[in-house]
Amino acid sequence: MSELSHNLGRSTFGNPVNSGNVLSEQEALELLNSWVENERLRLHMKQVGAVMKAWALEREALSEEEAYKWWLAGLLHDADWEKYPNDHCRIIIEELENRNIDPAIIHCIASHGPSYFGVEPQSSMDKMIYVFDELSGFIHAAALIRPLRYDGMDIKSIQKKLKTPSFAAQVSRDDIQDAISRIPTELDEIIDFVIQHQREVS
Ligand SMILES: [Fe+2]
Repeated sequence: MSELSHNLGRSTFGNPVNSGNVLSEQEALELLNSWVENERLRLHMKQVGAVMKAWALEREALSEEEAYKWWLAGLLHDADWEKYPNDHCRIIIEELENRNIDPAIIHCIASHGPSYFGVEPQSSMDKMIYVFDELSGFIHAAALIRPLRYDGMDIKSIQKKLKTPSFAAQVSRDDIQDAISRIPTELDEIIDFVIQHQREVS
């Protein structure tokens, strides 16, 4: 994706009357499984969903009902990436708008790459999907090259890999820095949280 090539050209999504409307877990997984064939991409979306939900519950002290929205946004944020690479984000947004889903969830999905989609993260849900998206994939890439995967993985080794441009070169270090600069939490703490919470996701 090149910068702004996927600009959505708008900053409001969905309809406020749909606040509180969600897809059921079954509907969400059906959408994921029918739109995304690539196992690795599916896993990435499930990992971002799991980390988002855990953050909502543990760090934002939100209810299960609110945390479910964080999970849903994480789970579906790349749903259209494989089938519609040229219209990534626009298609899943329109799908969720057509299904009358809560605008906060749709705005969150639209916020996962400000330099691509032209949408500024506003809520903490928006800011955290931007933080977790690239880092989650990066940390999983680091786990895949370790015999023990996540076991014994430490923050330092991830920081070192972030400073090694050739490792997972497609992951934008600039986006990670930009995302972290928008929240009050340090990068080390985020890395630790991701390591602890996405290891069990399969
Ligand atoms: Fe992603």
